[in-house]
Amino acid sequence: QLHMIESIETLAKLIETGTADVEEIVGLLEKRDAHQQLIYSAARELTDTIHGNKILLRGIIEFSNICQSDCLYCGIRAGAPGVRRYRMTPAEIMACAREIKHSHCGTVVLQSGVDDGFTVQQLAEIIHRIKDDTGLAVTLSVGTRTRDELILLREAGADRFLLRFETCNSENFRKIHPFESFECRVACIRNLSKVGLQAGSGFMIGLPGADLKTIARDILFTRELNLDMIGCGPFIPSPGTPLSNESLLNDLSIYYKTMALIRIMNPYAHIPATTAFDSLLDGGRDEVLKCGANVFMPNFTPPKYKACYNLYPGKSSVDTSTDIYQTVKQRIEKMGRSVSSEVGHALRLK
Ligand code: 5AD
Repeated sequence: QLHMIESIETLAKLIETGTADVEEIVGLLEKRDAHQQLIYSAARELTDTIHGNKILLRGIIEFSNICQSDCLYCGIRAGAPGVRRYRMTPAEIMACAREIKHSHCGTVVLQSGVDDGFTVQQLAEIIHRIKDDTGLAVTLSVGTRTRDELILLREAGADRFLLRFETCNSENFRKIHPFESFECRVACIRNLSKVGLQAGSGFMIGLPGADLKTIARDILFTRELNLDMIGCGPFIPSPGTPLSNESLLNDLSIYYKTMALIRIMNPYAHIPATTAFDSLLDGGRDEVLKCGANVFMPNFTPPKYKACYNLYPGKSSVDTSTDIYQTVKQRIEKMGRSVSSEVGHALRLK
């Protein structure tokens, strides 16, 4: 009984102030049973109150898997053996964006590896064409960029930009990202809103070397960055990468509690149920929609390319139906929720 009261008190404080110290967050991550349910329902109620019952749809196009980066966890890292590399043509990207428009998504997410062969000018051109043709909101997820590049992309019509910080332990960041520093990554993330882009970031939950304290610090960092969108997912060991033999967390509930706490600390952020949750567990994205997420991002990459964008195992086997929209709609309605075709801009802009 006393424990329950303690749980309620820490949670109430978290909801009221939006923050807590590392130890308190670790304490919440360790909660089980009824206490754990309390965390999920607090996150769910907050989501319903602020975002309603509707799930926003954002359609993803993975337009190039060519990558100059060599992130140790990633299945399409520069050094990954046996990856067939592709870069979609502007005509292919346009066709895919139109499909996304017809599938009632309000946003197209253009994602790629760090592919300098696809120049910023070419990217700007394609953004322009998509805006002209479809009127969709455009989100970019194309790696770390300079401030000038961000301005150019913003001027071309980009609305939002996603760049995960992956982990806020700068030493660990350095180890797993051979060509990049944490400081540069964060500088780019902080530039996003300064140049007028809606800012998205997040981290991988349970990277090798992360304990509950690390996760608690990462959760706190999502709040410190003041984000419009927060995308997080479990780290999934990927074959053929230096981290292929690492393991998932023993206790899978940590992944969901992490998402719930992120929601409680960032009530207004748009939070997607990310694809990696479906790799963790069949129907895993549904679980995240029950504890704080309000966004679903179906993958519209053409089938012939999708299999080559395997960041981690299981990734390319999601959203393979011939009618992605109907499948997603049914999936969401089965949970008593409905899909929204609204653009879903950052709530701070409303
Ligand atoms: N497991 C989970 N997520 C991964 N990502 C890359 N590789 C993996 C993996 N093995 C995530 C990173 C990156 C996003 C595009 O995909 O967080 O930012």
